[in-house]
Amino acid sequence: MRVDGTPYRSIWLAEDGWAAEIIDQTVLPHRFETVRLETLEDAARAIEIMQVRGAPLIGATAAYGMCLGLKDDTSDEALEAAAARLRRTRPTAINLIWAIDEMLAALRNQPREKRQEAAYARAAEICDEDVEACRHIGLNGVKLIEDIAAKKPGKTVNILTHCNAGWLATVDWGTALSPIYHAHDKGLDVHVWADETRPRNQGAALTAWELGKHGVPHTVIADNTGGHLMQHGQVDICITGTDRTAGNGDVANKIGTYLKALAARDNDIPFYVALPHSTIDWTIEDGVRDIPIEQRDETEVTHIQGLAADGTVQSVQVSAPGSPAGNYAFDVTPARLVTGLITERGVCEASREGLVGLYPEQADDGS
Ligand code: MRU
Repeated sequence: MRVDGTPYRSIWLAEDGWAAEIIDQTVLPHRFETVRLETLEDAARAIEIMQVRGAPLIGATAAYGMCLGLKDDTSDEALEAAAARLRRTRPTAINLIWAIDEMLAALRNQPREKRQEAAYARAAEICDEDVEACRHIGLNGVKLIEDIAAKKPGKTVNILTHCNAGWLATVDWGTALSPIYHAHDKGLDVHVWADETRPRNQGAALTAWELGKHGVPHTVIADNTGGHLMQHGQVDICITGTDRTAGNGDVANKIGTYLKALAARDNDIPFYVALPHSTIDWTIEDGVRDIPIEQRDETEVTHIQGLAADGTVQSVQVSAPGSPAGNYAFDVTPARLVTGLITERGVCEASREGLVGLYPEQADDGS
């Protein structure tokens, strides 16, 4: 997507052909800064401190982290150590593990002298594949928005989203926001309600910034607002992303997603979740029970970051001094509350049957 006219992806190979470059998402929307990742540790830290975040981008960064881990040592030990370091960065998004496993599969059988070249080639492919998957998610999801638009001619289609599942969370296009960008580009009259998404405010900071740069009408709302809007006919459809979709269609996503799905069900509003194949964890049969939920530092809840009057980005305390805080980063929405999954292969029911219908190669009998 474009930032002030310049096309960007969220991660790219530096001109020297070694380092990876990223947009530092910890200082957006107040500053647009890029960062060079030059070592395995740089890549791992960027994931941990959320300079990069969003499930597909975490995977893409891990892929380049594997490349960087082979810079001075292409041995089996270095390869496995890089994989182990990156696996420890964040626990919920399955794209991380998927990308590391893809890299290991491409590299383990290569002779040492070919490993670096093979690593950069596979990392670039992972990025390109993500862009194509997300573009197709948009092409498939835009039909849902067109259907709603056809039923209310001359009126705005209002879409509620949570967290940031836009191009900043993927390599390009986004998951939940890709259908919205496609709808806007086709001239449909769309408006987005962007949940602020406490504690880290990915909605207020990142989704709002992205939509604004692309000219998509939007309004930032406090996280607790969605139910009220739904009761008053101001939401036509909810679309969110996911960090891990279980084999049964349960979806883990940013904390608060579950409450939006409950409110949507109570108000008969369709609730769709958009994802590429790399977000599906076929090994988990019960997402609510088995998807690991990241718990992050309590200061993300007790404090809030923003732009101070002197132009610096600062953190201030919002909770009573000394009160402990819990920081659960994700929750799981049961498949029964999800109207459908929007994937690069089409839209399906949130169930094993629905998923296997689109990915028949994953059927238990391999058919
Ligand atoms: O903690 P984050 O910012 O990495 O969480 C991101 C989300 O929850 C997104 O909704 C999810 O990764 C889907 S991204 C296309």
